[in-house]
Amino acid sequence: MTYHCRIILLMPITTHTIKEYKKQGRKIVALTAYDYSTAKALDKAGVDIILVGDSLAQVVLGHENTLSVTMDEMLHHAKAVVKGAENAMVVVDMPFLSYQVSKKEAVYNAGKCLQIGANAVKLEGASKNILKTIKKMVDIGVPVLGHIGFTPQSVNALGGHRVQGRTADSAKKLLEEAMALEEAGCFGIVLELVPAETAALITEGINIPTIGIGAGPDCDGQILVTDDLLGKFTDFKPSFVKRYAELGKETENAVKNFIFDVQNKKYPQIAESFFMSESEVQRLK
Ligand code: KIV
Repeated sequence: MTYHCRIILLMPITTHTIKEYKKQGRKIVALTAYDYSTAKALDKAGVDIILVGDSLAQVVLGHENTLSVTMDEMLHHAKAVVKGAENAMVVVDMPFLSYQVSKKEAVYNAGKCLQIGANAVKLEGASKNILKTIKKMVDIGVPVLGHIGFTPQSVNALGGHRVQGRTADSAKKLLEEAMALEEAGCFGIVLELVPAETAALITEGINIPTIGIGAGPDCDGQILVTDDLLGKFTDFKPSFVKRYAELGKETENAVKNFIFDVQNKKYPQIAESFFMSESEVQRLK
């Protein structure tokens, strides 16, 4: 197959595709991945966006919140995800302190994500400084996904995992933030933990797609942490999560069966073993 043919057949998802989906009213599907085999499964299933989320901190590294994960750790996992994603767009979450300290450092870190093969980065917030940083990134060709509502890196400032934009005034403020992010050049915006009405207001009010997590049914797309959806991460289950599998329990049961088989000499059996030829067996004696 020629290179040209592959391009036509595979049609990788781009920022252009994502924006077109909003116009067509086709829902955008996004999930997180932190490793090669998960990325491959999501890609094969037809997920549009794979986010190497900084939820990596909790889900993979066992930290209490997202604040502890570093740029190097994100890049390490993102490299594996990029290898597993053929069609899906790979977005890397910029971790805490990788983009807030200086614009120069932020742009350099975002550039690093693209250098390892990711297609875009995600930043939390819409303050004046963040907007300037986003503009600079977009300026040098780094596609940026915004993230407003509950922004986990500000968990301490927000006083915990709280729904944002519950009042008409705060909903309008979030809409203003979303408009500013669009103006800054974001190709889409994640809305986390906001009432369905607020998400609908924002989705209607901007031209770029909204991708909701705990933001009701009216966003242009939905994102979940894959380990939540699969029932693999069991420390807590946010109320907006729908579990499509119970892999945590299934893993435990599978491992219990393995322990039983090994302890009772049921594994390995003939089919799972290698054997010498008859002549070599004779020579052993
Ligand atoms: O880190 C993360 O997983 C996120 C969510 C939007 C899913 O930012």
